[in-house]
Amino acid sequence: MTADKISVAQLAARKGRERIPALTAYDYPLARLLDEAGVPLLLVGDSLGMVVLGYPDTTHVTMAEMEHHLRAVARAKPRGLIGGDLPYRSYDTPELAVANARRLVAAGADYVKAEGGAEILPQVCAILAAGIPFCGHLGMLPQHVLEEGGKYRIKGRDEAGRQKLLADAAALEAAGAFACVLELVTPPVAREVTAQCARMLTIGIGSGPDCDGQILVTSDLIGAFPWFTPKFAVPRAKTGEETRRAVAEWMAEVRQPAAS
Ligand code: KIV
Repeated sequence: MTADKISVAQLAARKGRERIPALTAYDYPLARLLDEAGVPLLLVGDSLGMVVLGYPDTTHVTMAEMEHHLRAVARAKPRGLIGGDLPYRSYDTPELAVANARRLVAAGADYVKAEGGAEILPQVCAILAAGIPFCGHLGMLPQHVLEEGGKYRIKGRDEAGRQKLLADAAALEAAGAFACVLELVTPPVAREVTAQCARMLTIGIGSGPDCDGQILVTSDLIGAFPWFTPKFAVPRAKTGEETRRAVAEWMAEVRQPAAS
């Protein structure tokens, strides 16, 4: 392990003191760049299905693909924690969840993440009992997009939704999850969940400013997937456009007739 590798306990101790920036990483150069910038929490998210592999949603991502990308990120030896998403249907039972979480750890993950609350609690408890740090994911669950009619809907808008988020977060925290992504949760409810959790870090995405940390799909931050950017993400670089410009410039140069 890298000597100055951040531990789960060190990261968790930042709750209430320092906001945590987190970003997705999918390959070696991106992981190295994020490490050089000092990002303390990385995630090899199954968003790689869309922004790297060209699938329409995350439900197509396989364990083998997750392992492949985790190995590439781990080769950068970042100081920040490396997370690995358990892909769709890879944690249907506690036994399957533990076996696949172990595979992600063997590929380089320091922690694993899975989507859901009370309905996956036996899987979460089994993963934690196997000694693998766990990060939850509540709110809008991309792996359930097909069940939601293909729409990425905001969560916590009604009282039942609010109560479910608070109860699911409490259950994950009691089980021992060190962190939980809150995706597309209404900002007041995300604030309430964050205040309710004494230990578990809330990492927001499109859920307002009052979480313990914020995560973005790095491609959205740097404009590397210019065909779609979610409403809440503001690109701070235009790498897609820059690539188009550089390629066009170089092609024009190659096509110039050689001077005789
Ligand atoms: O897959 C992913 O990149 C994620 C983040 C959006 C949190 O789950």
